[in-house]
Amino acid sequence: MNPLPDLPLVYLNGAFLPPAEAKVSVFDRGFIFGDGVYEVIPVFSGRLFRLAHHLARLEQSLHEIRLVNPRTIGEWEDVFRRLIAVNGPVDQSIYLQVTRGVAPRDHAFPKEVTPTVFAYAQPLNYPPAEQLASGIAAITAPDIRWSRCDIKAIALLANALLRQQAVEAGTAEAILIRDGFMTEGSASNIFVVKDGELITPPKGPFILPGITRDLVLELAHAHGLPGRERAVREEELYSADELWLTSSTKEILPITRLNDKPVGHGRPGPLHARLLALYREYKQAFADGRVD
Ligand code: PDD
Repeated sequence: MNPLPDLPLVYLNGAFLPPAEAKVSVFDRGFIFGDGVYEVIPVFSGRLFRLAHHLARLEQSLHEIRLVNPRTIGEWEDVFRRLIAVNGPVDQSIYLQVTRGVAPRDHAFPKEVTPTVFAYAQPLNYPPAEQLASGIAAITAPDIRWSRCDIKAIALLANALLRQQAVEAGTAEAILIRDGFMTEGSASNIFVVKDGELITPPKGPFILPGITRDLVLELAHAHGLPGRERAVREEELYSADELWLTSSTKEILPITRLNDKPVGHGRPGPLHARLLALYREYKQAFADGRVD
């Protein structure tokens, strides 16, 4: 078995415990049905990056599955701070998960049930420098997921199958195609660069509204770079000048090979370099407390 992350402490239902002591019932609806939602929040210099955006998305995911947020913003912050403190002053990511709770197995919601609340923090493993320098390879694959990909649901079987398909093809990510259009990656949003313009699909039921995606668009607009949200046809991927993926843990990663063919010139492009520089500047400003 692969070793589990060596974490001193996790949070479960109000208690801070060593992971081996944190136990969840086999009748938890998260285990039985995948009935729950999650978030991944990066932490830089001890500060939770884009916390308000992540908590707003959590609120939306919970609302969509008809759960009331089991913690106030202040309570979440207290939990996160305690988890972060244990790891010391390193960049980290928080994982949090809320499931509907423990109940006899029945598809319909139980009448009275207490949600299960779980969270942990672990040091953030950035993509290795070689990946940033040379870019990663990806494949395209049919988007076999459901029609509510805007909910950050813990039920990720389709995403796991798709990522495994990418890995077995010797690549790092699967770019998903639905009805001839690109949606997103198995665990990332996708940007296309064509003729100096940044393009990413609009929000809707078929993509996760990525926090990194929004920040990339925000930074592009703030610096006068053309960035547009519009539907992207599959063929546009094959004639793109640059392709990137974005996520809270991978940041902005260039994709330089797609289906075994080079993307553009087969190297990370100038717009990637520009956006990554802007992103890093913004992160530094955040770490220094110059932006919230
Ligand atoms: N995943 N789309 C999907 C399907 C994702 O799973 C993710 C992130 C993103 C990017 O969203 P954000 O920029 O807010 O991280 C898009 C996280 C990191 C995960 O499952 O680990």
